[in-house]
Amino acid sequence: MTPPIVRTLAELRNATRGWHRAGESIGVVPTMGALHDGHLSLVAAAKAACDRVIVTIFVNPKQFNQASDLDNYPRTEEEDARKLARFAVDAVYVPDVSQIYPEGFATNVSVGGMTDVLCGAHRPGHFDGVATVVSKLFTQTSADKGFFGEKDFQQLMVVQRMARDLDIPIEVVGCPTIREEDGLAMSSRNLLLSDRARIKAPLLSEVMQEVAEKLAAGESFAPLQAAAVARLTSGGFTDIDYFELRSCAALEALEWPTEPARLFAAAWLAGVRLIDNIDVPVVPASG
Ligand code: PAF
Repeated sequence: MTPPIVRTLAELRNATRGWHRAGESIGVVPTMGALHDGHLSLVAAAKAACDRVIVTIFVNPKQFNQASDLDNYPRTEEEDARKLARFAVDAVYVPDVSQIYPEGFATNVSVGGMTDVLCGAHRPGHFDGVATVVSKLFTQTSADKGFFGEKDFQQLMVVQRMARDLDIPIEVVGCPTIREEDGLAMSSRNLLLSDRARIKAPLLSEVMQEVAEKLAAGESFAPLQAAAVARLTSGGFTDIDYFELRSCAALEALEWPTEPARLFAAAWLAGVRLIDNIDVPVVPASG
């Protein structure tokens, strides 16, 4: 059965009020639509942990720093609703801009520090847009738990910090990245890849995996980084926004993974920006 589509905040509040009154817990899965198995794994996690599940679909204009990127973002609402049918979610909240940013909206939520690096450095204003919309979606849905993919690891950290700092009573749950069989991390942006580019795209995760193995064997990062960038470039990626080793705790740049760390990459392939990150085993400092 197609899930109930809710388009206004008033309708949403009507539903959530009843659920809260009945003592039921609410999980929210915020998305921008163009749902793939990565999103659906978040929905499954929410269904397993909460009595009621709301999936939100809102292509948030505030988090795009290029008008063309916003225009080209895939929008597939009917198909999304069909994909959600088998999960029996309780509501799909599809607000228009007026429900999220009503006339005169003047508030910006900005998380400091961790947004200065990686995607934050390359997409000015992006994380302000994410933190602003997610804080709205958290308060509008009054959810007890919010589910986010580790594929956007920096976003997950920003959202966790924002919820803690603003005392929003929600648990932000991170869920593992879901990959295609050839290793490419699932992303709505993969739909924008041409057939030729799609064939080249798994090189990103392949190179990251190899670098992770070499780090685990004790090699230092700088030469591996240079070789990885050269390999991606010769494999068809044009601009490499970043290929970095950073700590999980504070996203500090590292030369060796002597504490819990991840490799982070963002690279352009045929006009599409792909991002990925993977865990790297901790190698204790010698001496
Ligand atoms: O990851 C996304 O799809 C978006 O950044 C989010 C969290 C739905 C906010 O618009």
